[in-house]
Amino acid sequence: MKVSFETESDRETIELGRKLGSLLTKGDVVALIGDLGGGKTCFTKGVALGLDVDKETVVTSPSFTLVNVYEGHLPLYHMDGYRLEGVQEFIDAGLEEYFYKDGVAVLEWADKCLQLLPPWHLKVRFEILSPVSRKITFEGTHPRSEDILIRLVEEN
Ligand SMILES: Nc1ncnc2c1ncn2[C@@H]1O[C@H](COP(=O)(O)OP(=O)(O)O)[C@@H](O)[C@H]1O
Ligand SMILES: [Mg+2]
Repeated sequence: MKVSFETESDRETIELGRKLGSLLTKGDVVALIGDLGGGKTCFTKGVALGLDVDKETVVTSPSFTLVNVYEGHLPLYHMDGYRLEGVQEFIDAGLEEYFYKDGVAVLEWADKCLQLLPPWHLKVRFEILSPVSRKITFEGTHPRSEDILIRLVEEN
């Protein structure tokens, strides 16, 4: 199942992320794909809000730390594969285990480790249409991610 949305501002992208975040449950894995500036971190801010992470908390790209953990009604594990050379480095850094913990994993540059993603992951692709607009395409190929998408569409 594939669903696309267009957002016309970073605020709209945050709002879409917030809606997704409110639908996520323990063990969900959200795989973000798209160029620098596409809106992956912006969208993750929204996911954090949807998980009830304090809105004063600043969500930034975890490029150097590899993973940032935010406390919401579920923990949010925000990861970034940008600097990783390959899947082995991802595994060695202990990042794979965040897919199987008590919270929700959101991974930027997920195309760097597609083969490690559990089958129920939800892909989110970001395309830059103009300086202020983005096409955001969700794709799920497992009943679990499809169920999330059906509910996201119902809310929009
Ligand atoms: N519709 C939009 N959605 C998301 N970000 C947008 C949008 N329009 C403009 N922007 C800007 O694009 C940039 C996206 O940055 P960021 O979320 O860090 O991207 P990424 O993490 O994919 O590199 C921000 O500066 C944001 O203000
Ligand atoms: Mg980013």
